[in-house]
Amino acid sequence: AATFVRALDALHAGEPVLVHDAADREGETDLIYHADAVTPEAVARLRNDAGGLVCTALGHEIAEAFDLPLYTEAIDHPAAGCHNLGYDERSSFSLTVNHRETYTGITDVDRSRTIRALGEAAAAPEAVEFAAEFRVPGHVHLLKAAPDLLAQREGHTELGVALAEAADLSPAVVVCEMLDDETGEALTPVDARAYADRHDFVYLEGRTVLEHLG
Ligand code: 5RP
Ligand code: ZN
Ligand code: CA
Ligand code: ZN
Repeated sequence: AATFVRALDALHAGEPVLVHDAADREGETDLIYHADAVTPEAVARLRNDAGGLVCTALGHEIAEAFDLPLYTEAIDHPAAGCHNLGYDERSSFSLTVNHRETYTGITDVDRSRTIRALGEAAAAPEAVEFAAEFRVPGHVHLLKAAPDLLAQREGHTELGVALAEAADLSPAVVVCEMLDDETGEALTPVDARAYADRHDFVYLEGRTVLEHLG
């Protein structure tokens, strides 16, 4: 229990947590922040220390309120027809966005601007006209959580959104895979845990999240 509560406290305090999904799923550890906490310095940590794709996961209802479809529903292309992923039934990718007040959208300052605006929007969706505030395509990948969250899907998308909700935060988190520059593979759980220890960040196994929230 101690680690789980520490993870909620960390998210609340704007610190990242590390979450390894499962050896029999992706077998990846994502660095996760609540969207409100994603300063330009946090984006720099995500791209330098994690190195994967910087994505913002939104709760299903929020995504629906903003009319955000799954990517595969949005485009009519034969390559989007059949998923056959090795680790899940479907991807959670939605559209990509930039805040309209960004320039190129990719800099740490721009991505932070976009991500924090997504966090604010998720806290008060009724106050936001999504298309007036964001443009598509952009440099932040949106992920859309499953309607029944962890009961339906056990990806980092749902693990992250469930943690935010449990921490009493809006359902918007940033997730980015921890990659290994030496091997070219995902960072192993042992190395991800060592990174967490070095920085005094919490490392969680997906199953610990499922035990508390699943
Ligand atoms: C986007 C991904 C990551 O795995 C991310 O963790 C979200 O996906 P999932 O919910 O399937 O784990 O593919 O970079
Ligand atoms: Zn993935
Ligand atoms: Ca790196
Ligand atoms: Zn993942």
